[in-house]
Amino acid sequence: MRLRKFNVLIIVVLMMISCVQVLPPTLTPTTTVVPPTKTATVSPTPPPVEADAGAAGIGDSLYPGLGNGGYDVQHYTLDLTVNDVSTSNLDGITTIEARATENLSSFNLDFIGFKIDTIVVNGESATFGRDGQELTITPSTPLAKNQPFTVEVKYQGSPESTSSTAIPIQIGWISFSQGSFVMSEPDGAADFYPVNDHPLDKATYTFRVTVPKPFEVAANGLLKESDDHGTTTTYLFETRDPMASYLATIDIGDFNTETMESARGIPIRNYYAATLPKDVNKPFARQGEMLDYFSSTFGPYPFEVYGALVLNVQVGTALENQTMSVFGNDMIDPQNVKETELTVAHEMAHQWFGDSVSVADWSDIWLNESFATYSEGLWIEHTDGRKALDEWIKNVYGFVRENQGRMSPPGKPPADDLFNAGVYYWGALGLHALRLEVGDETFFKILQSYYKQYAGGNAGTADFIAVAEKVSGKDLGAFFDSWLYSDTLAPIPELGLRTK
Ligand code: ARG
Ligand code: ZN
Repeated sequence: MRLRKFNVLIIVVLMMISCVQVLPPTLTPTTTVVPPTKTATVSPTPPPVEADAGAAGIGDSLYPGLGNGGYDVQHYTLDLTVNDVSTSNLDGITTIEARATENLSSFNLDFIGFKIDTIVVNGESATFGRDGQELTITPSTPLAKNQPFTVEVKYQGSPESTSSTAIPIQIGWISFSQGSFVMSEPDGAADFYPVNDHPLDKATYTFRVTVPKPFEVAANGLLKESDDHGTTTTYLFETRDPMASYLATIDIGDFNTETMESARGIPIRNYYAATLPKDVNKPFARQGEMLDYFSSTFGPYPFEVYGALVLNVQVGTALENQTMSVFGNDMIDPQNVKETELTVAHEMAHQWFGDSVSVADWSDIWLNESFATYSEGLWIEHTDGRKALDEWIKNVYGFVRENQGRMSPPGKPPADDLFNAGVYYWGALGLHALRLEVGDETFFKILQSYYKQYAGGNAGTADFIAVAEKVSGKDLGAFFDSWLYSDTLAPIPELGLRTK
């Protein structure tokens, strides 16, 4: 939901045009007949609005093709009927409510695979062309700047498995033996719905998903309704808060659910694949305490609900989908609650840093991953004290020192290895170094001011540095240069940590 500057002149012109067009016939003045003059025979058509094609990318420095220019999406409604869960063959209608930010003769969406049946813009059939993930739509009438518009895309088929440009794994909508799941970061959302696929354009979502029995659906936000049609069930989920496209998730399977509430009243609902051992929920037992602890550390929990969904399949990763983090079974060890709790804390902390405050550019990914990783250390400090945190920092420092050759400095991740260990661990050390540089009180004030200022929106590295400098009253330029961009790991002298 990006806000764009208002162009008053064009608005006025458009209002004049639309007044002429929408004037109902009954209001046509019939009483005063103006005698025809010579000039009146020339029809007073307004000058045509100049409209150009919207950009095919939103301007990301690492992934120029991601997202699109010229409009701002407010709401997506995904209406998906899954005919066969084993192949995820589905009939889909995605309806997008957006606002043009410039006059548009055509605009792009990101969309991969499927057969598109029809595209309708503002109720009128539109033409379209496809080139890789770029779907270019030409409405029958150009779209005017600042005006809302609606796009309805009807499609069918099975999601194509896509390999991310950022990590060599499959992302998007993935089918497996027990159902399907969605993990999209950073560019997999286009794998199941047409989308302005970049965190800069957040929107709210409605998911209406129909699945054959006995399958169930879990998605972001709150389950508002489930309709039993005999052999199928329709699940309706709504998100209260705008969300980045990569955080949208729809997961289909047979789940055991568990609900609870944090002491402060944050509702929690967890989904565990029914085939998992009963004790899979053990590492999630303290989520309420974690939510309350992070709320008091960073600022109020951003969303209407939280919870975890655990798949019974090896994914090699977990993902902080908004209001519902998804974990592969290889991320969860019920026999090692302490260790697993760190992953649980990591994904939860992303709800503040990543989901609520989202990156403005994918090169800012350390703002997500270093903060979530440092939050693992904060959970250790909360449960076991400062000495335990110091031990953890020493271990992380040793790990980064030994493996530096395989990491990028946190502030300059390569496009083909976005989630390299540098943006997690090296950056987490930088945050601890910042804490030692400015002192505990100032450090937590920095985190809180940064969260408060950018909650629900986007931030870049310069924004965080600006908050840190303002709150601390210190010039931190050299400090951040050495922690974010230098190829050499900086020392943490307070803990006796140096590269040699
Ligand atoms: N953000 C995830 C984390 O917290 C990693 C995401 C990697 N990408 C993916 N599609 N799984 O570690
Ligand atoms: Zn993470």
